[in-house]
Amino acid sequence: MKITVKLILALVFVTTLVVSIFAYLQMESERDRLRNELDIRASILAESLQESVQELLHLKSPVKLQRLVNRFGTKDRLSGVVVFDSLGKQLESVNTNITTLPDSITHILESITQSEGRFDIVKLGGKTMHIYSTPLFLDNKAIGALLILHDASYIDTRIQNIWRNNFFRLLVQTLMIILTTVIVFRFTIAGPITQVVKWMKNIRTGKTNLQMSLPRGDILKPLADEAALLAKSLSIARSKAEEEARLRLQTESIWTSERLKEYIRQEINDKNLIVVSNREPYMHIKHGSNIECIVPAGGLVTALDPVLKACGGVWIAQGSGDADQEIVDANGKLLVPPEEPAYSLRRVFISKEEEEGYYFGFSNEGIWPLCHITHTRPEFRLEDWIDYQSVNQKFADAVLDEIKDQKEPLVLIQDYHFALLPLLIKSKRPDAHVALFWHIPWPNPEVFGICPWKQEILLGLLGADVIGFHIQFHCNNFLQTSNRFLESKINWEQFTVERRGGTTLVKPFPISIAFKNHSISETEVLQQNDSSREVVYKKIGFKVKYIGVGVDRIDYTKGIVERFRAVERFFEKYPEYIGQFTFVELGAPSRTHIKRYHDLIAEVEEMVDKIKWRFQIKDWQPIIFLKAHHNHEQINLFYKAADLCMVTSLHDGMNLVAKEFVVARNDEDGVLILSQFAGASIELQDALIVNPYDVEEMTNSIYVSLTMAPKEKKERMQNMRNLIRERNVYRWAANLITALSRIRIQNKVEENV
Ligand code: G6P
Repeated sequence: MKITVKLILALVFVTTLVVSIFAYLQMESERDRLRNELDIRASILAESLQESVQELLHLKSPVKLQRLVNRFGTKDRLSGVVVFDSLGKQLESVNTNITTLPDSITHILESITQSEGRFDIVKLGGKTMHIYSTPLFLDNKAIGALLILHDASYIDTRIQNIWRNNFFRLLVQTLMIILTTVIVFRFTIAGPITQVVKWMKNIRTGKTNLQMSLPRGDILKPLADEAALLAKSLSIARSKAEEEARLRLQTESIWTSERLKEYIRQEINDKNLIVVSNREPYMHIKHGSNIECIVPAGGLVTALDPVLKACGGVWIAQGSGDADQEIVDANGKLLVPPEEPAYSLRRVFISKEEEEGYYFGFSNEGIWPLCHITHTRPEFRLEDWIDYQSVNQKFADAVLDEIKDQKEPLVLIQDYHFALLPLLIKSKRPDAHVALFWHIPWPNPEVFGICPWKQEILLGLLGADVIGFHIQFHCNNFLQTSNRFLESKINWEQFTVERRGGTTLVKPFPISIAFKNHSISETEVLQQNDSSREVVYKKIGFKVKYIGVGVDRIDYTKGIVERFRAVERFFEKYPEYIGQFTFVELGAPSRTHIKRYHDLIAEVEEMVDKIKWRFQIKDWQPIIFLKAHHNHEQINLFYKAADLCMVTSLHDGMNLVAKEFVVARNDEDGVLILSQFAGASIELQDALIVNPYDVEEMTNSIYVSLTMAPKEKKERMQNMRNLIRERNVYRWAANLITALSRIRIQNKVEENV
């Protein structure tokens, strides 16, 4: 049965019930009222007759009695007046048609014996009659009775009228209910539902977009809101599926997070992937009384977080946020990302002194400048080396605890902070598959040779089954270094180092990022450009025609000073761009505890002041230095708003800012100026490749970028985007994990340092 019919039937039933109850109550009260009226009338009449009749009875004067009774006739519904003697025998009466009063005899006798008046409604001769009998007295003795009869049939008529009126009222109400229900249902429920259904159907079949208006009205609002969310998820899922299908058609080799997840599941079965790095992916810091969760700057975190999100597992890292300890459980663990947990983060806490020696000292004042050729002299202090060893041991303990119940676990170690970790793990767990990915360059043997603990570092690293670098050149440097300083056999065919304890594969795995921003339509491009430009204008405080952007940790390897020199030279050489072009640098302070880094900030700020002082004019600045930690969303707006992005590292393993800029440019616009000393320049050949030490070349590249034909810009950007789409971070992880899981494990235990 249709919902409308059900609703109408229910409403009609309830209305009928209510109307009937009220009609009944009305009828009862009307009947009582009319009857009372007759009672009063009859008793008044009886009272006025009683005395005279009593006297005439006493005088035994039937003629006079007859006359008296006749005087009342049959007015005002009065049907008769009858006089009875004490035995109930009828003496006189004025009675129209009533011949027999069978029922009233007892009634009369009762009224005589009980000496009181009695009322009743009876049927006489087929008529409804109201009767009232009252005793007649002589010397306080009942000598007969007087009976007053009224026609009461009008009460029945009145009651029938009440029923009839109520019936018609019910009829009208029912019609009104049906009409109202149909109208209300049609316009507030059925209509909007039909609209929602049509809307959802269009969404489902992809005929319309989410912007199409949803039905208004508050009844369906929650439903419509939910439907909107559902439709949004559906549309995201559809575009993902379409993208997947498109990618499948394009090439079978495109890796996605879903594909990696499935691949890892098959490749490593139920094993947990253990990742170790010094820098944690999520850091909790205090902000007054609040605790804030931030994602630290740096390529390592940018690259690995999507991989862990896809495959799950445990990421072991140093807990370095001042609120980190408050968030973790008894094992130092928490689930991350906070808004959508996908993997575990296990924090290892070290003392301030240990951090001083291991992180600031040996890692960042020793190995970092040793491996980056920037002419910053490395510092090697024994106390730093001791801390470096003990912190590596601490992390080894954490890893060993994490893998204690796993057979042949997979451990992926990150970077130069943990050169000793592979051997420390392997010596306890020879069955473990251990890889170390070195995110920074590896220098040639002459350069590396100055490190007092070069052999210990090499042996520690060679505990790994696989060592990865970004580019072949760094692999070659490593192989040559091992060859020079260790007793080992280098297999230049296989790129392996063979020692008594086993074999280590040394291979390039160029790291990348997730490719999220797919190209967009021309209208969307305009909207996106407008909104990102607005945000940037607000941030820098003025509007400008051309924007250049740089995004870095403030590190001397990034060539920030050299870049600013080129910006300064650009305004000297091309003064027509004064007031037209602004370079915005987003610099995240880094390792500021180290003097070289601290001094660098001062040097950069000084240069910014100098350039501003030389060229600034009213409402325009040549350069803006935003010294702060910016999150990915904020950085993306600057990437999108920029005409060019400068990555001018003096030496860099890969540099993911270059790749981030390209991925952000879904409008296929913008020019990348990229240092030839960054690993990324090997892949991103469509960037304008520069030597950061050559100020003139960099200056020219800014000019070339700003004057490049749109077609050329588009082609270059498309090429770079296609490359990163294919060589994304999921492919990097899949290659590295495949190499690691498939390697034949040999015994490296005997090979202790
Ligand atoms: C480089 C290193 C990473 C490091 C990052 C940030 O990318 O290769 O290992 O995490 O810089 O440096 P920080 O010292 O802040 O961790």
